[in-house]
Amino acid sequence: MYKQYAAPMEGLTTWLWRRVHREVFGGADKYFTPFLSPNANLSFQKKELREVENNAGLTVVPQLLTARAEHFIWAARTLSDMGYREINLNAGCPAGTVTAKHKGAGLLRSPAELDRLLDGIFGALSDLRISVKTRIGCHADGEWDALVEVYRRYPIYELIVHPRVQKDFYGGVARREVFTRTAEKTALPLVYNGDVTAPDDPAFLGGAVMVGRGLLSDPALLRRSRGGAAASREELHRYHDALAQGYAAALGDEAALHRMWELWAYLIDAFPGGAPYLKRIRKCRSLTEYRPLAETIWNSLPLRWER
Ligand SMILES: Cc1cc2nc3c(=O)[nH]c(=O)nc-3n(C[C@H](O)[C@H](O)[C@H](O)COP(=O)(O)O)c2cc1C
Repeated sequence: MYKQYAAPMEGLTTWLWRRVHREVFGGADKYFTPFLSPNANLSFQKKELREVENNAGLTVVPQLLTARAEHFIWAARTLSDMGYREINLNAGCPAGTVTAKHKGAGLLRSPAELDRLLDGIFGALSDLRISVKTRIGCHADGEWDALVEVYRRYPIYELIVHPRVQKDFYGGVARREVFTRTAEKTALPLVYNGDVTAPDDPAFLGGAVMVGRGLLSDPALLRRSRGGAAASREELHRYHDALAQGYAAALGDEAALHRMWELWAYLIDAFPGGAPYLKRIRKCRSLTEYRPLAETIWNSLPLRWER
């Protein structure tokens, strides 16, 4: 059976989302947390703890965003003590504030720096599974071969490749040919990530695949790729309500509203003709104002896969 992973997406694939997604749509083989940022304080923030303390019954991989081996090692040991078996390094975040500190995709600017970081991490944590989620460079895909040479030196548990460069952010199309070429040339345990949105995408037949935006636009995408049913209106409604209520209970109304805006930015794709509602959702100032709007979407718009 091919492996199917849910991508980390900050603000979206949260502790609550993972649980609700599994309950309603049957889940992914692994869920990755949005990045945690260990630093010199050697303590997790409350928000970060919430991500790693609420995962009973799910296979979850915590992701770390750092350029310092000692910070990674502290966090990985702490998470291992909590029961986590695999820890993921973020080598892909394209945000300027992150890359300026040589973190995320900023790690890819210098293969020598990446090598030093991996050397520190793997030297200290040989008893843990360390996976890496990486882009293929900063400016051009020509940078990738030198980065692969570095990755090949370490016993990386899985190398998840999002074949875009940092300066692409999330625009254009993923450079799938670069991934295919790498898979043909190396024995690295590769996982494909990028632009998988349809249940018949060939990436689902390639061994292991990680899906992000496609899964938020169609939460039953993984099930469909396995020949299962598309999301029903009732399932989507249940998924939505569990998220809205769960966020309101844990974070309060204002933060819950914010989380729902972000969710709808993708979920609206399930409802053709829904774009004008997205604008109205963005303008809601309270859950009381928001709820009837969400109900109108369920009750009046067709589902993309019902047409
Ligand atoms: C809003 C948003 C938040 C994201 N947060 C993270 C993150 O915390 N860690 C990470 O490694 N990637 C993050 N990503 C990147 C995704 O995990 C994924 O690599 C990217 O969206 C490409 O895959 P997709 O086309 O299946 O979405 C984020 C992407 C988006 C759009």
